[in-house]
Amino acid sequence: MKRYYITTPIYYVNSAPHIGTALTTIVADACARFQKRRGREVYFLTGTDENAPKVHRVAQERGVPTQLFVDEMAEVFERTWSALHIEYDVFIRTTEARHKHVVSEVFRRLREQDDIYRGSYQGWYCISCETFFASNKIDESRTCPDCGKPLEWRDEPCYYFRLSAYESRLREHIKANPQFIQPEVRRNETLGFINEGLQDVAVSRTGSDWGVPVPDDPESGVVYVWFDALLNYLTATGWRERGEGYLDTWPPDLQLMGKDILPRFHATLWPAMLMALGLPLPERLYGHGWWIVNKQKMSKSLGNVYAPLEVAQSLANAAGCELDYAVDAFRYYMLREMPTDADAEFSLEGFEARYNGDLANDLGNLLHRTLSMMHRYFGGRVPDGARLDAGLADLFAQQAAQTTEAFEAVDFPHGLREAWQIIGAVNRYYDEQAPWTLMKQGNAARAGQVLYAGLIAARLLSALVEPVMPKVAREIARQLNLAAVPSWNEAIAVNAFPVGHTLQEPKPIFPRLQVKQPAPSTPTPHAGEEGRAVSAPSPTSHTHQGVSNMQDTITIDDFKRLQIRIATVKAAEPVPKSTKLLKLTLDVGGEERTIVAGIAEDYAPEQVVGKQIPVLVNLQPALIRGIVSEGMMLAADVDGKAVLLHPDREIPSGSGVR
Ligand code: MSP
Repeated sequence: MKRYYITTPIYYVNSAPHIGTALTTIVADACARFQKRRGREVYFLTGTDENAPKVHRVAQERGVPTQLFVDEMAEVFERTWSALHIEYDVFIRTTEARHKHVVSEVFRRLREQDDIYRGSYQGWYCISCETFFASNKIDESRTCPDCGKPLEWRDEPCYYFRLSAYESRLREHIKANPQFIQPEVRRNETLGFINEGLQDVAVSRTGSDWGVPVPDDPESGVVYVWFDALLNYLTATGWRERGEGYLDTWPPDLQLMGKDILPRFHATLWPAMLMALGLPLPERLYGHGWWIVNKQKMSKSLGNVYAPLEVAQSLANAAGCELDYAVDAFRYYMLREMPTDADAEFSLEGFEARYNGDLANDLGNLLHRTLSMMHRYFGGRVPDGARLDAGLADLFAQQAAQTTEAFEAVDFPHGLREAWQIIGAVNRYYDEQAPWTLMKQGNAARAGQVLYAGLIAARLLSALVEPVMPKVAREIARQLNLAAVPSWNEAIAVNAFPVGHTLQEPKPIFPRLQVKQPAPSTPTPHAGEEGRAVSAPSPTSHTHQGVSNMQDTITIDDFKRLQIRIATVKAAEPVPKSTKLLKLTLDVGGEERTIVAGIAEDYAPEQVVGKQIPVLVNLQPALIRGIVSEGMMLAADVDGKAVLLHPDREIPSGSGVR
């Protein structure tokens, strides 16, 4: 049976992995794991692009022999990927002899059949992008239209690949195969690029002897690094060496990359090379958007390049969570916020918010509270007669199906939102059914059934999150005392825990992160009654703060006029025609209230349902978009983004805040 072949681009080794290269690799790993869990045999390729002149240049600048430099850097990549829980099947390096043979052979074949011909080149060249630009594509600044770096004038004989001859076949293929280029925006970009007219591509370079020499004509320099690098996908299948054996994997089912290298290289040059060789084309090319940091492209000169392992390690240190789980949390953040069509902002605050919200509060808490109650009420054993309510069984199956569909489409943000609805549903179910009250009322049988829903949900989630957080998935399965994370098909079984099944003691996977707050300037009520809060600024420092600040202070009596209570969100829905507002229905201790909250850009309705939040309940009601809002929720403001605040443990709705 043909293996499902997934590739990342092979990475330039002039610098170490960062969150951009980590994104493509983590997306690919999640796709590979997802396909494996669905029972497919997968062949997952990543590797390093070592023949590039810029790699050679960096080695020279450092005074290191280039081969030694690329050997060391390839190791850095392999170590980083393994620390990020990436499980590839092949790590290809373009300096390997087998790859160089493939490049030479393809070059020769295409030259023999006149798809490669000899000509000469005069034009502007970007050494960083390894690309020539026609004069009409550049302006007076003589800088690269792609990366902005200065261009060099080149005038040299060279070989060309007849890309222009494939223009109409490429266009037809893209039009006839809507799945070939995804997402849609990239397909349109590519068609736009092709419609501008495809020019033949210079496929040899002089100036440096690092790379694959032009076969039978070393005077002409080395093979253009993109022509060389793209062929890695073919080398890794054993094409040429293994006879027909390469068809076990060829053609690729899914080639992943960032948007920058899709239209010009993977969606035109690459398929045209394959057409010239008479080989089947890849099934699907997927180009994700880019991470930006503080609204800017990452760059060394701006100092905003993040190293993935440092980000994970700093979370582990701050939260006191195991590094393996911090790495998984990082993977979760990469995939939950993954730029699909558009670019997306990467920020440590955003990472922390997802960690505390989705992982500590939602996933971690669901498992922890379910296991705690199972231990408290049933000695950690599944009680007699426990089964899943039919309504929930349907909902779980439906959410699992939607997660599957979204993961298949490489839309991880969507898939994870769908999976998290299961958590919201169980939290709501617990609140409605209140197993703690059922126990007090002596209805242990029903309480057992209610908690059974939490067990089934946690088991299902262990499977659904496995492609994203493999170690966390295993830990969930361990705490549930399952031999392994269930396969995708087994995951929705509703009777998965036999009566008497023993559960492990709950152990928090994601200890909550104490997000650093500015020093409080409002005294706590208790300390305030005695005149001064412990952490409030001293009177001396007050005098230094200036008059305007003094006028901003309020008395403890002012503060006491605010009635803040903890409410439980019962329902949430978008306010029609507003992108910012959610309508929340709250339980404020037996009393139902409606409020309108400006959090829709930061939270989906299902993320807030079941949550406990502080609400100012004695605010004058206000009519907002036709809805009477009877109070105001309090949330942290992180660079204009709302971050929900929650009590440290579940408490009765309506509890006061002092
Ligand atoms: N060597 C070529 C690929 C050859 S494939 C035959 C190359 N390498 S690269 O090291 O520059 O890495 C490319 C991958 O990292 C691309 O998928 C690129 O889009 C991704 N990213 C680099 N910076 C990025 C961001 N800031 N955000 C997201 N991904 C980005 O190109």
